[in-house]
Amino acid sequence: MTTTARDPAVLLTARGLVREFTVRGQGGALGRRRVLRAVDGVDVELRAGETLALVGESGSGKSTTARLVARLLDATAGRVEFQGEDVTRLSGAALHRFRSEVQVVFQDPFSSLNPRHTVERIVTAPLRYQGRQVPGGARSFTRTLMERVGLDPNHSGRYPAQFSGGQAQRIGIARALAVGPRVVVCDEAVSALDVSVQAQVIALLRRLQREEGYSYLFIAHDLAVVRQMAHRVAVMHEGRVVEAGDCASLFAAPRHEYTRTLLAAVPRIRPEWEAARRARARERETAEEGGTA
Ligand SMILES: Nc1ncnc2c1ncn2[C@@H]1O[C@H](COP(=O)(O)OP(=O)(O)OP(=O)(O)O)[C@@H](O)[C@H]1O
Ligand SMILES: [Mg+2]
Repeated sequence: MTTTARDPAVLLTARGLVREFTVRGQGGALGRRRVLRAVDGVDVELRAGETLALVGESGSGKSTTARLVARLLDATAGRVEFQGEDVTRLSGAALHRFRSEVQVVFQDPFSSLNPRHTVERIVTAPLRYQGRQVPGGARSFTRTLMERVGLDPNHSGRYPAQFSGGQAQRIGIARALAVGPRVVVCDEAVSALDVSVQAQVIALLRRLQREEGYSYLFIAHDLAVVRQMAHRVAVMHEGRVVEAGDCASLFAAPRHEYTRTLLAAVPRIRPEWEAARRARARERETAEEGGTA
């Protein structure tokens, strides 16, 4: 492990990340094997307390990048650094320590929560998996976490199927927060939710960030959602980051042709509408967030 000179505000860095998959070409199982570069030299920096959105069309390498950064997948080349430390090849206890810092929330809450486990068992699993004590005991720990994500703490003995989609996603968020991470990777975490429920979960994520200073690597295909969440944006195309920058300026004046195409695919929003929408969103944030959807 090496430590390099760095900006202290930068928590997580990917440098020259590459991930190849061997895939079959046309002809199914009999097809010729070829190497697909899903991620092709990606550099990204995630700062403390900020949201970096990854956007780009389907297949551009967003999820693969997220999985590499969270060490759910090993890189073919390049490296991932957390607080200046190379975590690319960590294993055992050191990997557990890294997992306590970087957690993931997935798109489909129901498929990522074990249907046969209670909420209490689900949210304490990451701690038990790491061989850590559950602070204050499983029941009270779970109740506290459930309150933090806007769930009724009396429901800690229930099973995922007894919750709505939005509530289930709150359980997924609670599980991610259980180990006390600083970075939460949200891979289309709000994409499968109805619009009103989506707004509530976005408000929750923003409040948690305000209060606890989490950094989010936030993947969403809906650029309206990205505008509400992101401080900075990296635009991916064919495995590469083609443009990155401050969210507002990137949307206002995209430099790369591909970014313009991506933005043109969604209805244009006039600045004055946008200001009004933001004001409404701020009002709603406090009002809606307590919602139990
Ligand atoms: N395990 C895998 N084996 C083979 N190919 C893969 C694997 N995972 C991803 N790929 C391929 O890598 C490319 C990038 O996939 P990835 O899931 O990262 O894209 P994405 O930007 O997240 O897309 P989406 O918006 O549809 O979620 C795609 O061509 C995909 O088919
Ligand atoms: Mg994806």
